[in-house]
Amino acid sequence: MILRAATLDDVPAVLAFWKIAAEDTNRGGDDTAAVQALITRDPAALQLAVIDGEIVGSLIAGFDGWRCHLYRFAVHPDRRRQGIGAQLLQAAEERFREFGGRRADAMVLADNTLAHHAWAAAGYAPQDDWRRWVKSL
Ligand SMILES: CC(C)(COP(=O)(O)OP(=O)(O)OC[C@H]1O[C@@H](n2cnc3c(N)ncnc32)[C@H](O)[C@@H]1OP(=O)(O)O)[C@@H](O)C(=O)NCCC(=O)NCCS
Repeated sequence: MILRAATLDDVPAVLAFWKIAAEDTNRGGDDTAAVQALITRDPAALQLAVIDGEIVGSLIAGFDGWRCHLYRFAVHPDRRRQGIGAQLLQAAEERFREFGGRRADAMVLADNTLAHHAWAAAGYAPQDDWRRWVKSL
């Protein structure tokens, strides 16, 4: 397995991968333009785990200059519990440290217990005193 940054050529395969592997696949924001914009703005942010040319894992490690955010943490259903997720997180945290990042965070659905196991195993814990406030632009 290799970990590498996604390129613009990967975008269709990434979107197809998220449909089968990612949390909350009904969300509206996963489209070609959005992923292309991410890769163009920060070419190393979207990391892929790849085996024999196939995407088996993904993680967006976004640093906005202030905070370190993790998105689209996903491993192919046939490849789970093999340490791929943990390796993706480790690489993302190394990237954040290089930027001087001090704390990483992720948005995790409250009922996604599968994800809770993986985040907790990597040392993440929920903050109960915050809510996410959003506005569509
Ligand atoms: C969350 C996810 C990315 C984890 O990927 P993974 O490659 O299976 O994770 P790892 O194999 O690296 O697991 C690391 C540790 O997490 C914990 N863990 C992971 N899955 C677990 C499970 N189903 N039950 C209990 N513990 C689990 C274990 O401690 C595991 O270490 P171990 O296997 O040595 O016991 C994967 O389950 C997934 O794609 N889920 C669907 C998408 C999703 O919900 N993503 C999270 C969005 S917030």
